[in-house]
Amino acid sequence: MASSIPPPEVLKNPPNIPEKQLFGPGPSNMSHEIRHSMDAPLLGHLHVEFCQIMDDCRVGIQYLFQTKNPLTFAVSGTGHAGMECAVMNLLENGETFLVIQNGIWGLRAANLGKRLGLNVQTIILPEGSAASLEQIREGIIKYKPKVLFICHGESSTGVAHPLKGISEICHENGTLLLVDTVASIGGTEFDADALGVDCVYTATQKVLNAPPGLAPISFSEKAVEKIKNRKTQCVSFYFDALELGNYWNCFGEPRRYHHTGMISMVYSLRAALAAIAKEGIENEIKRHKENIVYFHQKLEDAGFKLFVEDKDLRLPCLTTIRVPEGIEWKAVIDKLMAQKIEISGGLGSTLGKIWRIGTFGINSDKTKMDKIVSALKDATFSANSKVN
Ligand SMILES: Cc1ncc(COP(=O)(O)O)c(C=O)c1O
Repeated sequence: MASSIPPPEVLKNPPNIPEKQLFGPGPSNMSHEIRHSMDAPLLGHLHVEFCQIMDDCRVGIQYLFQTKNPLTFAVSGTGHAGMECAVMNLLENGETFLVIQNGIWGLRAANLGKRLGLNVQTIILPEGSAASLEQIREGIIKYKPKVLFICHGESSTGVAHPLKGISEICHENGTLLLVDTVASIGGTEFDADALGVDCVYTATQKVLNAPPGLAPISFSEKAVEKIKNRKTQCVSFYFDALELGNYWNCFGEPRRYHHTGMISMVYSLRAALAAIAKEGIENEIKRHKENIVYFHQKLEDAGFKLFVEDKDLRLPCLTTIRVPEGIEWKAVIDKLMAQKIEISGGLGSTLGKIWRIGTFGINSDKTKMDKIVSALKDATFSANSKVN
């Protein structure tokens, strides 16, 4: 029988995939090694060789987060999957979830908490700022949350939230500390164990320079205890941390099928973690921190104003720039895109006010930064970028 729907004409031609310089807030460019790691043949998701690659990733993620937590693995899904996995496992319906909201990611965590039937409370701060220890203490004493959420690298504003001293306040009050490091891990200091973080997740497409699709995550002993003592099952089977922990061999028990692992993505994660291990995480962070000072100086010399005023709060891998008065922000982005250079506009409440430039992993490079500053300057100050 002839099919009633003919094959789509569009599929007869190859797709258009130009090589671009990805300086938006992610994804970033892949290194040659990471890109080619995905050319390897597929293995089965429980084959001994693939299990070994998963084990390699697990220790690589422990290194990335600086933790000895056994329950450390990668969720199949993007950064949002990491967020959902963390919140769904750490909290049960009706429990209190306190969220520091200084940009879109706090807003997103609060939204997710409401969908899950949590009692969501927020500490709302002006964009471009971070919470003080006093504000956090007040919030914890007032709401007595089971979990406090902080976004370490708020990619909608360019703020790196300080983390020192927070877990002590949390733990004195029976609260677990959950940290989003999607836009910060590898680009600025983070030591999960020293900071007393109970759950941390990230994503592969920023400093790791791998494709989007996996969310490394880690749970502390306190977090595991809370999960094991839940009164109700995790609402999601797919994101159940104990099921995933078994599949990722976190408990030393025989692995069970949970879902079909993201085989080629896991190869790319291994390659990304190997690159970080080779450079050394402290060298990688140092490089980002040194290069960002250079980049910010060049931007200021070119006449741009940075959005985050407090230098100590600036993320070393993502820069936010105020759109100058009278300039059409989108026209500038389009001009750069015509040169195959991606930068991005604001997100949420920063839309229209700022540009965001990610310099993640291999893109944290002075020569590349020089090119971006020069292209941005040309695009901004040329006549046809002015608001009519
Ligand atoms: C800080 C932060 N958290 C979470 C996410 C969500 O990640 P994804 O888009 O990979 O789902 C992003 C994405 O940019 C992010 O920057």
